[in-house]
Amino acid sequence: MSGFPSFDYRNASLYGESIRLDRIAGEFGTPCYVYSRAALVAAYREFDAAFAGRDHLVCYAVKANSNLAILNLFARLGSGFDIVSGGELRRVMKAGGDPQKVVFSGVGKRPDEMRAALDAGILCFNVESEAELAVVDRVAGEMNKIAPVSLRVNPDVDAKTHPYISTGLKENKFGIPFDQAEKLYVSSRQFANVRVTGLDCHIGSQLTELGPFVEAGEKILGLLDRLETQGLQIDHLDLGGGLGIRYSGESPPRARDYVAALCKGIGRGSQRILIEPGRALVGNAGILLTRVEYLKHTPHRDFAIVDAAMNDLMRPALYDAYHEILPVTANKGNVKTYQIVGPVCETGDFLGHDRKLALSQGDLLAIMSAGAYGMSMSSNYNTRPRAAEVMVDGDQVHLIRERESVDQLVAGEKFLP
Ligand code: LLP
Repeated sequence: MSGFPSFDYRNASLYGESIRLDRIAGEFGTPCYVYSRAALVAAYREFDAAFAGRDHLVCYAVKANSNLAILNLFARLGSGFDIVSGGELRRVMKAGGDPQKVVFSGVGKRPDEMRAALDAGILCFNVESEAELAVVDRVAGEMNKIAPVSLRVNPDVDAKTHPYISTGLKENKFGIPFDQAEKLYVSSRQFANVRVTGLDCHIGSQLTELGPFVEAGEKILGLLDRLETQGLQIDHLDLGGGLGIRYSGESPPRARDYVAALCKGIGRGSQRILIEPGRALVGNAGILLTRVEYLKHTPHRDFAIVDAAMNDLMRPALYDAYHEILPVTANKGNVKTYQIVGPVCETGDFLGHDRKLALSQGDLLAIMSAGAYGMSMSSNYNTRPRAAEVMVDGDQVHLIRERESVDQLVAGEKFLP
């Protein structure tokens, strides 16, 4: 048993749904991201069903994995989208997403990105500062439009996650400080070209307990009361993303318990509730398939040098993140404690430390839980073309992004005259 329902062993071979992963490596090469359609659909449905008839919108956080096939799949299920750039807006539109279900987050939206979003007719801008509110107002005025906005409030809550992905503390760059929010809501009435429609908050990512969500939710509901007393009409509450997944030992809450905790205290028939899950929708629906190029035994360490690297999956190098690493063919050979490293010229280029595996040159490995913030954070460092991406769907497999070529990488570069 792998512990990952859509990627499991049958007769000592690791499968993605009904497809052997060694077959995928043969057909599409390595490194290669492999996603499971069934896992994506199940994760989306679990969130959606958890609202049990309450007015809501699941806005998938595109940054977690922005492949068009994945966006299109969620759009077909009725999902909305949380975007953070004009580029992500273009992707959502190309994938057939409904602009009326798009919220635009991020601390540094540019006027041209705001224009594109107003043109498309998005649901809401999640505004993060007074200066940004003034720019949205100006841009909307120039276009003769009224921009729907929420203010993203920073509730000063400790998300108890990695400091790089904690966003709801007062020292973080995100959101409007909690004690300034009411004043800004009231003064937003002076802006003729914005209409305040919502209240937004997002406290961090990979949260494995409900406590911080509940604490933030209580603060937000307190603020909502005060805003309503001031006569402001708030149509929706956007409670952000951040629900964690199991990478190894974690036991994060189920989507249904998370949604129930968020909704507690919010009367039915009052505000529409939005959430922006990213990782919890795609993280365990994807793996990174890689091949062992060389084994290198030194007096101090045993290294497995694989063909995936920090440019393909940056999370271990950047956050010291742990991803389970499983052999694609369970091997009964000599188990050693391996450092699983890539070919990039940095000591920080590792995918896993101290993994007990029986390996031979040429073996395939699956780096698990790589569906979120894997491909979307990849780079071309060391002039490494990006990996291919494929989707398994029962006994079918579809290429959803071709492996990049070096020619594509250098296509925009020019010599001096
Ligand atoms: N909404 C906003 C405003 C966000 O900033 C984020 C993530 C999300 C939603 C989705 O959060 P999720 O449900 O995926 O936790 N690269 C890091 C994670 C960065 C998260 C950034 N913001 C990682 O690999 O762990």
